[in-house]
Amino acid sequence: MKTINDNIMLDSKYAIVLENVGKIDPMKISDYIENNGYEALRKALSDMKPNEVVESVKKSGLRGRGGAGFPTGLKWSITVPLKGEKFILCNADEGEPGTFKDRLIMEGDPHKLIEGMILAGYAVGAHKGYIYIRGEYKNSIETMKHAIEEARKNGYLGENIFNSGFSFDIKVNMGAGAYVCGEETALIESLEGKRGNPRIKPPFPGIKGVWNKPTVVNNVETLANIPAIIDKGAEWFTSIGTEKSPGTKVFSILGHVNNPGAVEAPFGTTLRELIYEYGKGIKGGKEIKAVLIGGAAGVFLPKSKLNLKMDYETLKENNAVLGSGAILVMDEDTDIFDMLVNVMEFFKEESCGQCSPCRIGNPMILNILDKIKRKKDLKGNKWEIILKTASAMKETSLCALGQSAIMPISSAYTYFKDELENQGE
Ligand SMILES: Cc1cc2nc3c(=O)[nH]c(=O)nc-3n(C[C@H](O)[C@H](O)[C@H](O)COP(=O)(O)O)c2cc1C
Ligand code: SF4
Repeated sequence: MKTINDNIMLDSKYAIVLENVGKIDPMKISDYIENNGYEALRKALSDMKPNEVVESVKKSGLRGRGGAGFPTGLKWSITVPLKGEKFILCNADEGEPGTFKDRLIMEGDPHKLIEGMILAGYAVGAHKGYIYIRGEYKNSIETMKHAIEEARKNGYLGENIFNSGFSFDIKVNMGAGAYVCGEETALIESLEGKRGNPRIKPPFPGIKGVWNKPTVVNNVETLANIPAIIDKGAEWFTSIGTEKSPGTKVFSILGHVNNPGAVEAPFGTTLRELIYEYGKGIKGGKEIKAVLIGGAAGVFLPKSKLNLKMDYETLKENNAVLGSGAILVMDEDTDIFDMLVNVMEFFKEESCGQCSPCRIGNPMILNILDKIKRKKDLKGNKWEIILKTASAMKETSLCALGQSAIMPISSAYTYFKDELENQGE
């Protein structure tokens, strides 16, 4: 394992998106170029047709790193045949609690993201890209703006890149602190200057996105994988990770670990390795009690699941999700009930209020949790009501924010039932 600094860890054999982070000066395009930067773009524009770029990404098996794990090549191929103006929209809202991977890419290696976006634009026939960056990320915004300016000055952005006849440019937009604006259609509404309410899907952004024009929405980490796939080939990419989850993932490890930070590791690395090798174990020599994987919209897992491989399939088989790759580690003293209340308060606070299941369901669940805590009015099985409410929210909410409450609730109840049922002052 190589440690770039104490908090960014990777095995250099597997480093893709963080390979340059901490090593090059993000404010100097020359540093990126000296490290093979923009060579994938040169290769694509001189030797590859747009559909060959799409095919290469499809063959690589790259899956979206924003949370849902949707195959990137397939997403692109929906937009490819559509005519007229199209856009590449980079989702850099990074609002999932405990997640701090996209920031590292933007602040440590901004040109990798720019190169990935230009390649995406070339592949689907888009000439304009937007990066929607979380408003609190002042350094990311500054670094990306500077890098875009440098890329323009050096002919990597703008008209007729490398005399290929292909033109592409990027604009940075700033979010204003709403978690829901990370949802792709709310992001689009916000980008268009409206209130960030999610849209009804379908139509999906690939067909009707920004200004109702076809828009590829991809996460920062997803796009940062593209230059390496084009440069080294799909076969190289599939040799890393597992069969159905190829490549690496950047995990954010936080909570009661000795060494919190970001880890780029191949898919299939176990939870135990991430926590004990990279995270250096639990603070104060305590026992681990649980982990919350994937942020607020994630799942609680007990210590008996530490040998789980971190890849999409294994997690799905265990009713878990990878989400954004946040791993919140909790020691033996953590109160799971309090953690659950915390997560539900977050959902209540961040609900946009547009649809009733989520607007009413989240406060309702919190209200019942409060009654359980105070041992008040405990007629009927309160946990049954909570689980039924969260299931109804899953079935009827308009977007994944309301649909996700069931994840932390049902996983906490599955693994920590006794503790939850015995709550009360
Ligand atoms: C409430 C909510 C918040 C989200 N926040 C983010 C985010 O901050 N960053 C992100 O990339 N995706 C986020 N997503 C997922 C996006 O809707 C979308 O799936 C993703 O940007 C697609 O990119 P990918 O295919 O490259 O993963 C969020 C989804 C929901 C429902
Ligand atoms: S589920 Fe929640 S966040 Fe999503 S649209 Fe409905 S109210 Fe808004």
